[in-house]
Amino acid sequence: MFVRRAYIPDGRLPGPRERAAWPYTVPAVAELAERGLTITRPVTFLVGDNGSGKSTIVEAIAEGFSLDPYGGRAGTATGRPEPTTTVLGEVLRLDTTPAGARMLSGPRLKKKGFFLRAETAFALTQTLGGVPGYWVEDTAAMSHGEGFLAVFAAMMAAPGFYVMDEPEAALSFTACLHLVAVMHALGRNGAQVVCATHSPILASTPGADIIEVGEHGMRRTRWDRLDLVDHWRRYLQRPDAYLRHLLHEDADQYGGAP
Ligand SMILES: Nc1ncnc2c1ncn2[C@@H]1O[C@H](COP(=O)(O)OP(=O)(O)O)[C@@H](O)[C@H]1O
Ligand SMILES: [Mg+2]
Repeated sequence: MFVRRAYIPDGRLPGPRERAAWPYTVPAVAELAERGLTITRPVTFLVGDNGSGKSTIVEAIAEGFSLDPYGGRAGTATGRPEPTTTVLGEVLRLDTTPAGARMLSGPRLKKKGFFLRAETAFALTQTLGGVPGYWVEDTAAMSHGEGFLAVFAAMMAAPGFYVMDEPEAALSFTACLHLVAVMHALGRNGAQVVCATHSPILASTPGADIIEVGEHGMRRTRWDRLDLVDHWRRYLQRPDAYLRHLLHEDADQYGGAP
């Protein structure tokens, strides 16, 4: 592992005026400011609904480790990713392990890891949509996924610190399963992953730590206690039970009683 805690040091804590404004109005960020976030396992997921603060937090962590966004950002004159600074990233500090400290203080080229943003993950994986058995069986289709493969090959080859924001964007069920295998292997091979997700599949990575973010702030929990998992279970069981609140018509083609 490289990073074991993210926190705002005393001298940098936001004052009352700052706390009344974004990002401290997001409950998970407020809790991060108050208590910090301890990272205990090589693979950590931040799970929560849209708007719960996952991106705000993982971006700040990536910034704290000076990670380059994988795939860069659009519109930079040099073609090189520009260093990002965010309100939270500017004050957040990371407690590193000795390995993390060595990597942070060493030359930039020695740094292993990157920040995979939701948007770049999407761009990489767009071409993979609907390619059956893409990962292993269908070698002819592999060229379509070169970007995707290159990302994971790079991660496997260089055990580093990887921060990801909804890498499941545009991934099929099967591709998500493959990503679980990659995450699991990374955790075992000395890498560290901090990943924002709302995929119940990714969050099921064995041995991973799960932090549920939401109105309550942040709480460590088990996969089978996640709201997300509960919703998916119930939805797959009875789509109509959810849909009848949204649609003004019967949704009884799913077989459930209204
Ligand atoms: N730059 C910003 N300025 C103000 N509000 C923002 C900014 N970025 C995100 N937000 C708000 O902060 C909240 C958390 O956003 P975000 O971290 O992107 O959530 P998530 O990634 O969990 O969907 C949302 O309500 C969002 O609208
Ligand atoms: Mg997000």
